[in-house]
Amino acid sequence: MNILLLGSGGRENALAWKIKQSNKVDKLFIAPGNAGTALIGENVNISATDFNALKEFALKNDINMVVVGPEDPLVKGVYDFFKNDEQLKNIPVIGPSKVGAQLEGSKDFAKAFMQRHNIPTAGYKSFTAETLEDGYKFLESLTAPYVLKADGLAAGKGVLIISSLDEAKKELKGMLEGMFGDASKTVVIEEFLDGIECSVFVLTDGESYKILPEAKDYKRIGEGDTGLNTGGMGAVSPVPFANEEFMKKVEERIVIPTVKGLKEEGIEYKGFIFLGLIKVKGEPVVIEYNVRMGDPETEAVMLRVKSDFVDLLEGMAEGNLNEKTLEFDPRAAVTVMLVSGGYPGDYEKGKVITGLDKVEDSIVFHAGTTEKDGNVVTNGGRVIAVSSYGNTKEEALATSFKNAKLIDFDGKYFRSDIGFDL
Ligand code: AMP
Ligand code: GLY
Repeated sequence: MNILLLGSGGRENALAWKIKQSNKVDKLFIAPGNAGTALIGENVNISATDFNALKEFALKNDINMVVVGPEDPLVKGVYDFFKNDEQLKNIPVIGPSKVGAQLEGSKDFAKAFMQRHNIPTAGYKSFTAETLEDGYKFLESLTAPYVLKADGLAAGKGVLIISSLDEAKKELKGMLEGMFGDASKTVVIEEFLDGIECSVFVLTDGESYKILPEAKDYKRIGEGDTGLNTGGMGAVSPVPFANEEFMKKVEERIVIPTVKGLKEEGIEYKGFIFLGLIKVKGEPVVIEYNVRMGDPETEAVMLRVKSDFVDLLEGMAEGNLNEKTLEFDPRAAVTVMLVSGGYPGDYEKGKVITGLDKVEDSIVFHAGTTEKDGNVVTNGGRVIAVSSYGNTKEEALATSFKNAKLIDFDGKYFRSDIGFDL
């Protein structure tokens, strides 16, 4: 079969790597891809949200399945676009319908969904400019720190955690006045949860589900989890504190009611569900849903999937996921992200990347790279994910750090403490 994968980051490079291992695949195209995906399949110069161009390409190239990496095309309705088009309706899209994608596209929608289905999450209320005064009163009823979330997609920047009440009120007003554009026209204020976080990934065909290996990502730029939030600086799988007892609770209290809830509400969902969880006094609580795989978690998790991933994708598309097998590699897998100097603030692009040929024992996934004049050059804040196996996470991390030092570009930075808290 011919598969079209949408996206251009490290997640998509890792998905492409895993998909290409299946003997079910003839051709793999990645739109738009990066210099790493170009080594695995064929990059197509089409934006993941240019649905009309994707249509033309899919029809011309006998595409049999579309796999969606990032949230943007999902929230914009790529699933519905294919389903409702006479010529495209038989090409399955792996990802939720536009309504289903609201689990990530609207925090207010996600919170209300969790409340309807008794899924554990922080207490909350939502506010708009009209209800600003009520928002102030709600903040006064809470204790510090205060958690303010832009309702819509804000490129991972829409969550503020603030220690002073006055500051929280000021930020609430600013958000409702458009600090994050339309995304913060509604703001969710929620109870602060204190605990340790991890990510759990679910595959579903809308009826049954399978749970992929869990992972922990490291979001802050600085060592010891300090400094600004980034897209993610590294990840580790498995996560020691997500033991069997914890994962059983996750399945019973979160995964099952989520899949059942979607079905009951008639929301079509054949895709990935990413549970952003926090363990509070031993109990799992949902911080957020995403409707895609995590980045950089995918760059670790894909290493631990032993089964044919395309077979699982087919199960999701065809509604027989329960007949498929999902086997894990028992080894640890980790990824360490090399980023551009200045990231997550301003940074320069176009720096020549050297040393990729010196890497041994790691799998290099490209995140923000492109090709220029025969060189691989930086093309984003997160540049290269160095992923490794190990009998322990320490062993895997040592391999990734060794290779992270061999790869070089002007301004390169990485965190050498990934996994420090586990
Ligand atoms: P989100 O975009 O919802 O994942 O939030 C970004 C980050 O903010 C999360 O990964 C958490 O570290 C933190 N966060 C979000 N909600 C809460 C909460 N209710 N309590 C504590 N931390 C939170
Ligand atoms: N690693 C967090 C995310 O993908 O949103």
